[in-house]
Amino acid sequence: MARRIAILGGTGAEGSGLACRLAKAGEEIVIGSRDAARAQGTAKQLRERIGGNVRIEGMDNLSAAGACDVAVLTVPFSGAAALLKQLKNVWKPGTIVIDTTVPLAATVGGAATRVLGVWQGSAAEQTKELLPAGVSLAAALQNLGAELLAGDAPVECDVLVCSDDERAKQVASELVSKIPGARALNGGKLENARIVESLTALLIGLNLRYKVHGAGIRFTGLPSK
Ligand SMILES: NC(=O)c1ccc[n+]([C@@H]2O[C@H](COP(=O)([O-])OP(=O)(O)OC[C@H]3O[C@@H](n4cnc5c(N)ncnc54)[C@H](OP(=O)(O)O)[C@@H]3O)[C@@H](O)[C@H]2O)c1
Repeated sequence: MARRIAILGGTGAEGSGLACRLAKAGEEIVIGSRDAARAQGTAKQLRERIGGNVRIEGMDNLSAAGACDVAVLTVPFSGAAALLKQLKNVWKPGTIVIDTTVPLAATVGGAATRVLGVWQGSAAEQTKELLPAGVSLAAALQNLGAELLAGDAPVECDVLVCSDDERAKQVASELVSKIPGARALNGGKLENARIVESLTALLIGLNLRYKVHGAGIRFTGLPSK
């Protein structure tokens, strides 16, 4: 199916890594930024790096959100609510949003190994509150680090996809499966994002203690298909 995927905050490490992996898999990507010129610059760099006929362009976040079928939210938690409020009347009905944000304490000057308490229960549930009716949400990719996405090697980790909307869960899982080495797992309801988000803080602690950059998660005992 032809679709356009906006990566909001796609100039950052996580967003540009995802953009690169999904563009390589044949998806049409729009990098979003607060600054259209910065988005265009990142899009150009990615096109040059990947080569071939990859489809990556850059726009400001509002234009990108309004022009897409699927949006991946990759801005820091501290900026997510303000951005979502700006986008409230911009989304096309039927858009699917995939939230990768983690409420790390580091986004407000605290430790990267801790998560903040979020009134709604998780960053994803806060996002849900800020989306209009007709726009659906899945939470995913919070545990897949930018360092792993940056290279070309298979990422070798599982990605829990949590949503109360079957279509959003299915589209998010399909996109995850396009990243070599990533296995999408049905993570259940959106509220389970509370658990998944906190795992990121644990993984950052493991990276620090074991002096590595790419700690990830694999679940065992599940059927292979
Ligand atoms: N880094 C990882 O390994 C990783 C892994 C899993 C999940 N995540 C999640 O992915 C998100 C992005 O992580 P990152 O490391 O890529 O972060 P980042 O580089 O700090 O930020 C990504 C982009 O967000 C935009 N941005 C920054 N502050 C903003 C604000 N206040 N309002 C709106 N936009 C803002 C910036 O783009 P412009 O200046 O161009 O607008 C920036 O390039 C976070 O929520 C994080 O929890 C990250």
